[in-house]
Amino acid sequence: MRLIHPTTSDDVDLARAYAYPEGRCVRLNMVASADGGTWLEGLSGGLSGSGDRRVFGVLRGQADVVLAGAATVRAEGYGPARPRESWRELRRGRSAAPPIAVLTRRLDLNLASPLFAEAEPDARTIVITCEAAPRDRREEAARHAEVIVAGGDRVDLAAALGELAARGLERVLCEGGPKINAQLAAADLVDELCLTVSPMLIGGDAARVLDGPGSLTRLRLAHVLEEDGFLFTKYVRPLR
Ligand SMILES: NC(=O)c1ccc[n+]([C@@H]2O[C@H](COP(=O)([O-])OP(=O)(O)OC[C@H]3O[C@@H](n4cnc5c(N)ncnc54)[C@H](OP(=O)(O)O)[C@@H]3O)[C@@H](O)[C@H]2O)c1
Repeated sequence: MRLIHPTTSDDVDLARAYAYPEGRCVRLNMVASADGGTWLEGLSGGLSGSGDRRVFGVLRGQADVVLAGAATVRAEGYGPARPRESWRELRRGRSAAPPIAVLTRRLDLNLASPLFAEAEPDARTIVITCEAAPRDRREEAARHAEVIVAGGDRVDLAAALGELAARGLERVLCEGGPKINAQLAAADLVDELCLTVSPMLIGGDAARVLDGPGSLTRLRLAHVLEEDGFLFTKYVRPLR
């Protein structure tokens, strides 16, 4: 992998390139085709490649918590993040792997799946839901996961992020999908976007990185890396 912006270099330290800034930060990580689609036959995997998987791993290693929408968790068959040897230094003083936090109103989750049954004891899966969620499912979820209730009819994302921060989970890696990305952006909560641009055109009806009501977040291009025709971009908020 080589750096092609803001300077050029064949020697890229991914851990440095993707270090979080100080304090609270919400980073989106997505892969999209060159024409902007974020899934192929319903999944992101067909858009990815070996470089993307490496960056994905480094981003998880840096994060305090991985946030994902329930549709992504269901479609992609999410399991817990597994500790990696390469994360040991990065994660000193934190859980060996970041917990997964699932955003859901309906709580239609398989609580017997590895996502809940095989999470590390210090990185139990977190379910973020709202008052409107079925009470019996909330109680059942609480037997298998940490449950955060933030909001009435739907999850209030700012409140949910506040609850995560109160648990020391300030470096948030949101892995999508596009529907929760759009809500985060609409609430002005996105600090960074790590976007892999895959060298393919896919057409069809795959959502873009944001799928929801329009909003404007201005970003600054922090870096571009390249490998095998894939571009690995990192955008950050301009200083306010
Ligand atoms: N290219 C990529 O990098 C990438 C990354 C991630 C996902 N994807 C793809 O994106 C697709 C899924 O994304 P998506 O945009 O359709 O859905 P999503 O954002 O993953 O999840 C939407 C679900 O999250 C829950 N949710 C969202 N906002 C909520 C709120 N404010 N309060 C309570 N619950 C809320 C609801 O779950 P309940 O229905 O359980 O209530 C909702 O159905 C999949 O095809 C996946 O493969 C691609």
